[in-house]
Amino acid sequence: MKKIIKNGTIVTAADTYKADILVEDGKIALIGQDLSDSAAEVVDAQGHYVFPGAIDPHTHLEMPFGGTVSKDDFETGTIAAAHGGTTTVIDFCLTDKGKPLQNSIDQWHAKSHDKSVIDYSFHLMIGEINEDVLEQLPSVIEDEGITSFKVFMAYKNVFQADDGTLFRTLEEAKKLGALVMVHAENGDVIDHLVTKALEAGQTDPIYHALTRPPEVEGEATNRAAELTGLADSQLYVVHVTCEEAVTAIANARKKGYKVIGETCPQYLVLDQSYLEKPNFEGAKYVWSPPLREKHHQEVLWNALKTGDLQTLGSDQCSFDFKGQKDLGKGDFTKIPNGGPIIEDRVSILFSEGVKKGRLSLNEFVNITSTKIAKTFGLFPQKGTISVGADADIVIFDPNVERTISVETSHMAADYNPFEGMKVTGQPVSVLSRGDYVIKDKEFVGKIGSGQYLKRSRFGELTTSQEELYQK
Ligand code: URP
Ligand code: ZN
Ligand code: ZN
Repeated sequence: MKKIIKNGTIVTAADTYKADILVEDGKIALIGQDLSDSAAEVVDAQGHYVFPGAIDPHTHLEMPFGGTVSKDDFETGTIAAAHGGTTTVIDFCLTDKGKPLQNSIDQWHAKSHDKSVIDYSFHLMIGEINEDVLEQLPSVIEDEGITSFKVFMAYKNVFQADDGTLFRTLEEAKKLGALVMVHAENGDVIDHLVTKALEAGQTDPIYHALTRPPEVEGEATNRAAELTGLADSQLYVVHVTCEEAVTAIANARKKGYKVIGETCPQYLVLDQSYLEKPNFEGAKYVWSPPLREKHHQEVLWNALKTGDLQTLGSDQCSFDFKGQKDLGKGDFTKIPNGGPIIEDRVSILFSEGVKKGRLSLNEFVNITSTKIAKTFGLFPQKGTISVGADADIVIFDPNVERTISVETSHMAADYNPFEGMKVTGQPVSVLSRGDYVIKDKEFVGKIGSGQYLKRSRFGELTTSQEELYQK
């Protein structure tokens, strides 16, 4: 059915203006003043902002990790995402060394296609490079539309790849038109620091942070950036947490290297002291890289403003406190890494960023939606409000005040790391391809209605994509 969204203030990465939007056949058909159509349902957005649906470029839904599986799957995770104003997720498809890449991709399709309530796509993990893998990559791009490859520089003996693999992935990505993503921490050094900590009886959650200091993130980020420059390729650094890594990215960008950085809400508002909470509650705050000392937060905010960091991901990878996080009692290395963030990512950036004067409204939309669509080959189908784009639209109340809590959260985990945090602003209704997923704060979507998105190659989007890499 057609819809006309009336009386709202449209916000894109470039403009803020009052206009109506006609939605037809899942697309934005017209934007203008005083639109009318007797066949259309009128959606009143008076007093609200009308944003393009946010895109989460970094999720781990139903992902095996540390002997357990992340709690939110493509059903609960995408319902929670939609409540938070996110209408597209890009999830990380893990691969197994020596096995066909297509097996892993098929597994990821199997766990998402009849569950996701919003559109979704995949990144593909590269754990090794050999002739066999090289032969498979063109079809990953052509047939699956997967145009981003993820290399882990940490998690030794689990996901970690060596520098040769990273460099050859960068070379191949350059040839094929793909973007390489890195988890940038020096896994070998961390492994050594962890061994020493355990030998000294240091087993509490705080030692997770102390054995992965900012230097190991800064060093790995710098290494990945230099290898990108050498290969004349393109790089996206996920979950940047600290000044050392921001500096490495900023320096690389100054040299003209094509490097983009992402941070996550947890690093903007939580800090290392949370890992010291009593009764093992510190385990709720175990991420890799870890939460940092507070002074890093302003560096991250500033980098989002200046463009040294470009995007915000959730790194959604939720685990229950009871039965999952507590696997690490007595040994912090056994705490599954990650947390439930997907629902609160957008609201936290709006409240802490826009409402507190750190970011403009347009920068907020750019960081949560537009630059992500451009980076990952989805623009302008996604990431903006323009004629012809998918009608992925968020009607957002900028003034409602609320307190984040597990009690009201739609994520599956048994705690919320932002428990008790007061935020201003919340999505009221959310459309995915013109259909309500959230209406008046209630889920009204259809399980399995989300569509798999094949994405453009790096460079195919021409100037809109190139400008992200310009300093
Ligand atoms: O702690 C984290 N970040 N968990 C998810 C896996 C990853 O490294 O992104
Ligand atoms: Zn990671
Ligand atoms: Zn992650």
